[in-house]
Amino acid sequence: MTQPATRRTVLATGAATIAVGCVGCGGNDSKSAASSSTSPAGKSASPADTSASPDSRSATPADRQDTAVSGSVLARTSDIPEGGGKIFKEKKVVVTQPKKGEFKAFSAICTHQGCTVAKVADGTIDCPCHGSKFHIADGSVAHGPATRPLPAKHIKVEKDSIRLT
Ligand code: FES
Repeated sequence: MTQPATRRTVLATGAATIAVGCVGCGGNDSKSAASSSTSPAGKSASPADTSASPDSRSATPADRQDTAVSGSVLARTSDIPEGGGKIFKEKKVVVTQPKKGEFKAFSAICTHQGCTVAKVADGTIDCPCHGSKFHIADGSVAHGPATRPLPAKHIKVEKDSIRLT
């Protein structure tokens, strides 16, 4: 009776061994897991791709900035009053319409000490800091202390859109 029990024990042990063998099969699965751990290596390649993406992203905003500076619509012609102008502080540009249908653009940064101009009125672009005024037609100094004109900016008018070029 003891021997059959022993055989059963042996069989049970064998079953346990088989079970361990199955765990070993699980080990094969762990090789698959190792393959999965290769995937993290693939993931490490992905971060490389991600690091490539920021490069392309960093290039993209630069392109966008270029586009924003050189191609985006700055204003509608109807936004610019005839005989006056409008200041685009974010773009640091002032667009004027000295005569009907004639549009000009200048830097909105005063050539005296670098303040941003604040007003367009009575045919001039006015700086609030020390009172300099510039003609809307050509950016030349109408009133000091500034001595240099506002630099011209290139714009392109297409239909009713004004673009910086
Ligand atoms: Fe414009 Fe001085 S900075 S007048």
